[in-house]
Amino acid sequence: METRKGVISLKRPPSALLLITARLYTWEDLRPLQSAVAATWCLMLLASNQGWQDRLRAEAKEICGERIPDYNMLRKMKQLTMVIHESLRLYSPVMVNTREVFKDMKLGNINVPKGIQLWIMVGTSHTNPDIWGPDVTGACKEPHLYMPFGVGPRNCLGQDLAMMELKMLITLILSKFSLSLSPNYIHSPVLRLLLQPEHGIRLLVKKL
Ligand code: HEM
Repeated sequence: METRKGVISLKRPPSALLLITARLYTWEDLRPLQSAVAATWCLMLLASNQGWQDRLRAEAKEICGERIPDYNMLRKMKQLTMVIHESLRLYSPVMVNTREVFKDMKLGNINVPKGIQLWIMVGTSHTNPDIWGPDVTGACKEPHLYMPFGVGPRNCLGQDLAMMELKMLITLILSKFSLSLSPNYIHSPVLRLLLQPEHGIRLLVKKL
């Protein structure tokens, strides 16, 4: 089935159709939530780091001045892009991705038979010190293992839009407000289809 062009081919086995239908229901419902959850974690990280809030404000001021950011301005915001990617690495809304194996195959040294559901542990790969280094200060040794938007030809079609939404939201919030974490905030990430804050994120918001 080719969902990108809206063409449905019935040549694939019924199991593929069922899988894709389930997938579409899941992702269609979750898309706005994915962006909201990603924004929530990013704001939590920024609220706990005043230094990065200041850096992002300075970057936005330099690029936009007093104007509302447009697409070209948002594209130039390198530090903001880095912050969002770091937030997506640590708190990827989609922690587990799946692929069904349609024919017998070899994955490295492992024989994987047809019909197996492969689970890709995104969160584990995003925090593996063998890949990122013990304190994550160096360059990532295996950049393809950073996959908040999935992998391969079926990765997230909305990732550029999602990045722009996140950039716009964070820039507008930081231009007007200073954020800090409420003493009542309880840090408890929980996997409920998406990685969500179990008790929400409590922020103290101060007008600049
Ligand atoms: C931060 C927000 C988002 C995250 C973390 C996210 C993540 C993902 C992930 C992990 C997948 C599965 C990719 C794979 O199986 O390899 C996916 C698929 C998809 N996403 Fe997103 N997504 C986000 C926002 C959006 C938005 C805003 C849209 C559209 C407006 C969108 C459209 C899609 C579509 C159409 C697919 C299915 C692609 C396909 O199967 O060919 N996503 N997304």
